[in-house]
Amino acid sequence: MSLMQWQDRLSVHNDMIDGDHKHLIDLINNLHDAVTEGHGADKVGETLDELVIYTATHFKREEEAMQRTGYPDYEAHKRMHDDLVGKVLDYQKKHRAGDAGAPDQVLRFLKQWLTNHIMQIDTKLGAYLGKEGV
Ligand code: FEO
Repeated sequence: MSLMQWQDRLSVHNDMIDGDHKHLIDLINNLHDAVTEGHGADKVGETLDELVIYTATHFKREEEAMQRTGYPDYEAHKRMHDDLVGKVLDYQKKHRAGDAGAPDQVLRFLKQWLTNHIMQIDTKLGAYLGKEGV
């Protein structure tokens, strides 16, 4: 069973950002499946690595859109992205060091973080980009 489902309330009304968020939710669910189906550390690690890489890719895409359009809250928004990446990298390190509980912790953390960030922060960006015609 999926940990997270896409819902219309998560839409920021920007196709690029919504598409990335949907893919992030898929990757979160893949990691959740790998953990709950009892896959080995290698498979869980691979899925976690994929999630970490795509998270960074998505953040970069949003940051480029903010910079291109002169988004006024760029610095604060980027700081939140950087904080999240730092925390996820810590969980990745813990997992690589043999902490079997790290993937489950990162999943719980990411589900909450992503939902809050999308609904409170990315929504403002989506509305701004819409006004800019992006
Ligand atoms: Fe979709 Fe600001 O992260």
